[in-house]
Amino acid sequence: MSDTACSVCNVPINLAERSYPITIGAGILHNPATYDALPKAGTAMVVSNTTVAPLYASQLIAALSGRFPNIHVVTLPDGESHKDWLTLQLIFDALLENACDRKTILFALGGGVVGDMTGFAAASYMRGVPFVQVPTTLLAQVDSSVGGKTAINHPLGKNMIGAFYQPQLVVCDLDVLKSLPPREISAGLAEIIKYGPIADMAFFDWIEAHVEPLRQGDTAALAQAVKRSCEIKALVVGQDERETGLRAILNFGHTFGHAIESGLGYGHWLHGEGVGCGMVMAAHLSHDMGLVDRAFVDRLTRLIQRAGLPITAPMLSKADNAGRYMDLMRMDKKSESGEIRFVLIDSPGKAVVQAAPDDKVRAVIDRCCA
Ligand code: NAD
Ligand code: GLY
Repeated sequence: MSDTACSVCNVPINLAERSYPITIGAGILHNPATYDALPKAGTAMVVSNTTVAPLYASQLIAALSGRFPNIHVVTLPDGESHKDWLTLQLIFDALLENACDRKTILFALGGGVVGDMTGFAAASYMRGVPFVQVPTTLLAQVDSSVGGKTAINHPLGKNMIGAFYQPQLVVCDLDVLKSLPPREISAGLAEIIKYGPIADMAFFDWIEAHVEPLRQGDTAALAQAVKRSCEIKALVVGQDERETGLRAILNFGHTFGHAIESGLGYGHWLHGEGVGCGMVMAAHLSHDMGLVDRAFVDRLTRLIQRAGLPITAPMLSKADNAGRYMDLMRMDKKSESGEIRFVLIDSPGKAVVQAAPDDKVRAVIDRCCA
């Protein structure tokens, strides 16, 4: 991977009539030209939350004001625990109270929680209105804003209710990452690291060499990481938009990670923290299944730790911890007839999705939890 930074780059998502660009650059959110290719509409609705709206909503509205005569804002409560029906309803309330028609464009201004909920609202309001992702967390820029997965959580399982629905445009402004707390930068690094073992070990080498500047918010390093992550995701989504096969590899670390998130109660561990620790657990399982050597498990674990992420999984039950993990993982969307399917590393840079014997999974949980 080269160290050349782009000023503004476009990574295309190629999905026939649902194709769109991911625009990446510093200071692009408030530039009206960023939105030039969007369809004309009388109304835009900016969906954000109580943390992000005060920081960036006025900049976005100023950039859109020459294009859309009416711009409304709906401000949601912040947090993963609000990614639910009740909060989703606030978007529909605002759309209907403002008599928004089916040409109204929704703008998701926030992290993955705002992006997933706005996308789901766009997919279902009047059976579908256009929307734009303006991701403001590192995690959302490298993963959740791209590829059209939208959802809310259910108390019994994460992202269980949603739709595949592609945005018209993704706007990744690197400047907005400057206000992100360090813990959120680390959470984003988890999804960036993920792309190495599943698809590109040269990228993994590069992350190892740049993890400190990435954690410190170095714009040139972040530009490279966001661009390469989006390129890899675009390649996968372009081949398997609705996750009939290949796309499942993007869930490396997520089967264990989602169990941690929902088992502890949404919002205790960040999504990226669950994914980081989940990748450690999935690497152990890959090793125990005879796929990768111990050196790879140690190398991945070291990088996850250097990224500021937890590498020891939490206990979810005093009585039967492994059983609790297994019950939660059976709810995973990749499960088939109650059989849990894991994203494992076949060899570094290549992932495989398969079931694993219960005793091996239990052994990994016992080893990784404290
Ligand atoms: P988040 O949306 O909760 O954002 C993290 C925190 O940072 C929030 O408090 C938010 O208000 C704050 N924040 C956002 N931007 C900020 C900024 N620029 N400055 C200061 N604070 C800011 O969490 P996230 O990590 O962005 O996203 C996690 C969610 O994304 C999960 O619900 C996960 O399931 C989902 N996700 C979806 C996909 C997908 O393909 N759709 C992929 C990965 C994750
Ligand atoms: N984040 C996993 C996916 O988009 O498929």
